[in-house]
Amino acid sequence: MSVLEVKELTRRFGGLVAVNNVSFQVDEGEIFGLIGPNGAGKTTFFNMLTGMMPPSVGTIAYQGQEIQGFAPHRVAGCGIARTFQNLRLFGNLSALENVAIARHRHQKTNLFAGILGLPNARKAEQETYDRAKELLDLVGLTGKYRQQARNFSYGDQRRLEIARALALEPNLLLLDEPAAGMNPNEKSTLSDLIRQIRAQFNLTVLLIEHHIPLVMGLCDRLAVLDFGELIALGAPDIVKADPAVIEAYLGDE
Ligand SMILES: Nc1ncnc2c1ncn2[C@@H]1O[C@H](COP(=O)(O)OP(=O)(O)OP(=O)(O)O)[C@@H](O)[C@H]1O
Ligand SMILES: [Mg+2]
Repeated sequence: MSVLEVKELTRRFGGLVAVNNVSFQVDEGEIFGLIGPNGAGKTTFFNMLTGMMPPSVGTIAYQGQEIQGFAPHRVAGCGIARTFQNLRLFGNLSALENVAIARHRHQKTNLFAGILGLPNARKAEQETYDRAKELLDLVGLTGKYRQQARNFSYGDQRRLEIARALALEPNLLLLDEPAAGMNPNEKSTLSDLIRQIRAQFNLTVLLIEHHIPLVMGLCDRLAVLDFGELIALGAPDIVKADPAVIEAYLGDE
């Protein structure tokens, strides 16, 4: 069953067509890769999916419901969470607080009720922090709960963003270049982490990534964008051999 279906999705910026008439479906439980050269429209695609900008044309159906044009919090409420290519952590907050805050928003409990120590709020507060710790453990940040996010390596910041996205309890997780800035060792453990997350939370994962070996080894299917257009769609080994894809990447060099 398809969890996400985009039809004729298009986004223009003045005269520039950043995403041009893109249609495809993502099946439930897939790890689906969105690749393409710089400026191909990948992040713009995510921005439309998450309500950060409306499409110029086209529809986005998530679990059968059209969500194009929804505000970001409403999209998140539907079960779609993301990480950002340009990290958006609260640098002067701890890892734990970064994750807990995401969860607070989700629960709609009041931070101040927690500070005042109201009993229900305190229980929710405790659960929030316990859960945040579990998520930090999951992404490999055990022992770094109290460190400020700004002091983290790129790799740790990217994993922290994943933990924060998971705190929203999504069904669909969007990762925008999760391996960027990671060392080779971190990149290889990232694949395992993404697979583990999918299994543990029954997630569908949509992933933008430039690191081709990672994408090829991890993704069930790929969509390739080039100058906003969908030029290939299918299993990694088929897409990799597609002349249009080879051309797009060589043309980028
Ligand atoms: N808010 C915006 N206003 C104007 N132009 C934009 C805006 N956002 C993106 N663009 C343009 O749209 C095109 C697609 O950009 P986008 O960031 O989606 O590409 P990308 O595939 O994510 O690239 P990269 O791999 O470098 O991250 C680019 O030409 C970019 O300059
Ligand atoms: Mg991008």
